[in-house]
Amino acid sequence: MIRKIKEPKTLFFRSSHTRTHSRARRCPYTYSMPRSGFYARRHSQSSQSSSSSSSVIAAVEQAANNNASRRSRPAAVGMLFALPVIFCSTIMVAVVGYSALRPFKLRFVYDFCRNHLNYNYVAIRNIVEDRLQARNNKTELPKLTGKVAVVTGGARGIGVEVVRMLLQCDVEVVIACRNESAAEKTIANIRKSGVTSGKTRVIKIDNANLDSVRKFVAEFKKHYSKLDILVNNAGIMFTPYGETEDGFENQYGVNYLSHFLLTLLLVPLLSKAGTEERYSRVVNVSSCAHLLGDIRFDDINHKKNFITGEAYAQSKLAQLLFTKKLAKLFSEKRLPIQVNAVHPGVVATDLFDYSYLYYFKPLSKIFFKTPVEGATPIVYAAVNPTIEKKSGMYISNCQDSPINPLADDESLQNQLFDLSLKQTQIDATF
Ligand SMILES: NC(=O)c1ccc[n+]([C@@H]2O[C@H](COP(=O)([O-])OP(=O)(O)OC[C@H]3O[C@@H](n4cnc5c(N)ncnc54)[C@H](OP(=O)(O)O)[C@@H]3O)[C@@H](O)[C@H]2O)c1
Repeated sequence: MIRKIKEPKTLFFRSSHTRTHSRARRCPYTYSMPRSGFYARRHSQSSQSSSSSSSVIAAVEQAANNNASRRSRPAAVGMLFALPVIFCSTIMVAVVGYSALRPFKLRFVYDFCRNHLNYNYVAIRNIVEDRLQARNNKTELPKLTGKVAVVTGGARGIGVEVVRMLLQCDVEVVIACRNESAAEKTIANIRKSGVTSGKTRVIKIDNANLDSVRKFVAEFKKHYSKLDILVNNAGIMFTPYGETEDGFENQYGVNYLSHFLLTLLLVPLLSKAGTEERYSRVVNVSSCAHLLGDIRFDDINHKKNFITGEAYAQSKLAQLLFTKKLAKLFSEKRLPIQVNAVHPGVVATDLFDYSYLYYFKPLSKIFFKTPVEGATPIVYAAVNPTIEKKSGMYISNCQDSPINPLADDESLQNQLFDLSLKQTQIDATF
């Protein structure tokens, strides 16, 4: 079992960008899988739990009924590894078969398979970590009466739970979304669930259109003169090739570039809200997929040999680079704003609708985090007083976590920042 987990590691580190690094440099985010815990337990119980299929089935049945005991069951965790590997190998066979018919596309098929395996590896690892770290994944919800927050993508998925928790903090929450009636329904449901504190407003934004982002900011400024919390959450994943209104690959445009512009346009209002004692906060919802990312400056839209997983990883790494760069800028300019990136965990939402997991939704509901669990580290970054003034972190399960070393590369941060300024036609004059 352990060998199966480790095998794809070689593949993972053979990306074109990381190939030149030494092993030690490549992997400072040494996922320290606590061997004394999970592995040790698996070894000691291997004869009973891993070899007996009936005990596995029993564990999974119990998992469906009992949330707490599920998390501690080695057999259920074993399933976490087994199922994706099975799906993955099925797809591999299909793709390799296809490649036999298309000999001139072998390089593309190889890259596709490698990316696919790497994703499965990173996802499985994170699912296990999410379970092992479950008890750290919590935040207090302080009273923040009078504070104003913006949550992009707040009408669906993890965003709904972020809105709910911020309302519990008595914050005035502006849901920034493209479907206003869906947002109104979301608010009605939250109110029905018993949350009466906080205020809400819905303002339209389409993250696939930079003009719409500008219009959102203009509308926001009509109602508010300051902003305390900005949660850049809206996102798409593994979509087929398509371009935003402004001609950028969809995932790059929606996940990263629109939020880049939104944040810079809102800096004056964030700056106004922050004080020496209490900073205003920007939360960029990134992903563990950033670990697989690279920035293709020579082909930012990934038009040559488009592999959707690579484009998603690039967009999530871009959010990390932006977080780090912004943290430095705010500190240099002494602005009372902190900015952090968050990985919500692997969460059962519609985000996976373009992946093969779409066909395994019931399973993802068993093994993945719930939207509430996914929203928790985001809200932690947005309100938790214990991280006051801390900036530039990558938060996973409410803890500062290791990142792709590329995100710490200052020249990369600057290069992407300058490119994004050009792409959004904005000056960073704050
Ligand atoms: N779920 C996970 O396992 C996971 C893991 C790591 C990171 N994340 C990140 O977490 C964030 C939220 O994901 P989720 O799981 O909640 O996904 P989701 O359920 O699919 O929700 C995505 C949200 O983004 C909004 N959105 C998408 N395209 C938009 C656009 N062009 N303009 C405005 N809003 C748009 C959607 O609004 P509509 O209703 O209008 O479509 C929706 O509210 C994403 O940034 C994602 O990358 C999720």
